[in-house]
Amino acid sequence: MVVGQSMKILIVGGGVAGLTIGWRLAASGCQVEVLERGLAGRGSSWAAAGMLAATAESEMRDDTYAHLAHAGRAAWPNFAAELEKVSGILLGYRECGALLVAQSDRRAGELHSAAKELSARGQKVAWHSQEETVRLEPLLSPKIKGALYASEDAQVDNRQLSIALARAFKSAGGILREHCDVRALEVKHGAVAGVATADGNICADKVVIAAGAWTNNIDGIDEGVLPPVRPAKGQMTAIAPPDGMAMPHHLIWGEEAVYLVPRSESLLIGATVEDVGFETSVSHKTLKDLIARATRLVPSLSSWRVVESWAGLRPRTPDDWPVLGETPVAGLVVASGQYRNGILFAPVLADMIQSLLLGEDPGPLFQGFSPTRFAKG
Ligand code: GLY
Repeated sequence: MVVGQSMKILIVGGGVAGLTIGWRLAASGCQVEVLERGLAGRGSSWAAAGMLAATAESEMRDDTYAHLAHAGRAAWPNFAAELEKVSGILLGYRECGALLVAQSDRRAGELHSAAKELSARGQKVAWHSQEETVRLEPLLSPKIKGALYASEDAQVDNRQLSIALARAFKSAGGILREHCDVRALEVKHGAVAGVATADGNICADKVVIAAGAWTNNIDGIDEGVLPPVRPAKGQMTAIAPPDGMAMPHHLIWGEEAVYLVPRSESLLIGATVEDVGFETSVSHKTLKDLIARATRLVPSLSSWRVVESWAGLRPRTPDDWPVLGETPVAGLVVASGQYRNGILFAPVLADMIQSLLLGEDPGPLFQGFSPTRFAKG
């Protein structure tokens, strides 16, 4: 078996997942090339909101998915500090906390019980009454009914993160090939041997598919070898305040499928979840509707101006859980299906894939995300 420094690894996909895995492997001495069909970090990673909201995203659950989310959150402070040091780029990592806001009595009841249950499990959450919530976040509407406050939820600037990872990967000795379209995998005697690109073939000992929503757009392997991953479109917008107007301090989740992410200059409002294939247009009507929902949470947003609108494609599996690990083809590994939490999962997911490729133990959570779980028969 080829191990360590003599092992050549190709990573298909230069988003946050592929670059983080690549950085870790290159830093541990492997020969690594990241093959990106466009520009590194400019696809779904660029379109994300950068929330590290393990509590808000997994709410009342206590399953392997929630454990992965919390492991990701726990890894972020050191990961951000290390990446900032290596890349010299500030990531905008902020432990700003999240408010899951109840806008109806029914939701207030649900969140109140959830807060009790989560704190009994040791999570740093608390139920706040209407008065307490508005004191904490004065821009919220007085019509809200209260909120679950998750003090440990955080955020990072996903675009700065993407730039920093590309830099860290290259300084660790990794090779980044942009505009490199991987068309097919080369498989010999049941083991991966490399990839075929528009510009020729590249040999490798191992191939990691970190291609997000594009995971299944690769030929050269039998049907069913790669797990099913489809795009889930998300439309978002960023709005900026009139001069002198305050920005919210927390991540804010509303009851009407909307969230707010305060950045230094603008407020991100997200996001739709649409099953429409590889289509990334933005609809004025949809964004107007998102802004209207946001305005029911924070009324002063009605006077803010739109500064950017965009759509990205999340990688979604049939059960909404990631797909991590080996496929039936020897040496072919998948790291995809992160769906709504690719940025949150990145450090812990990269550690698992690195351990797997270096012949070490990827840890207890890993088995729960096997890419072969959808295989028929
Ligand atoms: N995690 C936020 C989103 O998927 O919209």
